[in-house]
Amino acid sequence: MKIATLVGSLRQNSYNLQLALTLQERYKDKLDVEILDIRSLPHFDQDKELDPPDVVQRFKAAIAEADGVIIVTPEYNWSVPGVLKNALDWCSRGERVFVGKPVLTMGATPGMLGTVRAQLHLREILSSPGIQAKVLPPGGNEVLVNMAMNKFDPEQRRLVDEATLTFLDGVVEKFIAFVQEHTVQPVRA
Ligand SMILES: Cc1cc2nc3c(=O)[nH]c(=O)nc-3n(C[C@H](O)[C@H](O)[C@H](O)COP(=O)(O)O)c2cc1C
Repeated sequence: MKIATLVGSLRQNSYNLQLALTLQERYKDKLDVEILDIRSLPHFDQDKELDPPDVVQRFKAAIAEADGVIIVTPEYNWSVPGVLKNALDWCSRGERVFVGKPVLTMGATPGMLGTVRAQLHLREILSSPGIQAKVLPPGGNEVLVNMAMNKFDPEQRRLVDEATLTFLDGVVEKFIAFVQEHTVQPVRA
């Protein structure tokens, strides 16, 4: 199963990148997780939405070809980082590559609230008319990694907290079943 992954942080030692690397490694027998580059995407420009730059076209093609998408993001000022929103905005116009796409969201923070505000906001964005992703319903599936400094090993650059990993295993199993239930055709605006 091909999974495109977006990481909302550009920071080298990002906890969220480490969470994405954990997904890539831990579920490698079940998921082919590709972490897409959002750093290189230019700012969204509506004048270019129907003929976007090559780097944007390649990015959108990778989303279109994936069976599902996992978004791993920090919370910035109670919302998602602008760099992630920019990537989603490109995907919402022209070829709308998220329409009907199965999506799982998660996030990590050193704070107490586990990125819950950003995740709620992200769910709203993913429900907008231009995106219309099929997001795994929240009940029991919210991966909110709080107190991240206690849950990642900086040398391995991986999530190592056993209770969180066990919870993640269950959510990933549910997401795999969710992806299998959905097939997607790209939609043009
Ligand atoms: C601009 C900015 C705003 C932030 N706002 C929040 C916030 O609203 N909630 C939160 O839990 N942490 C917030 N933080 C702290 C981040 O959770 C922390 O920097 C985290 O390590 C970022 O994720 P990363 O490790 O993947 O880069 C903020 C950090 C920055 C740089």
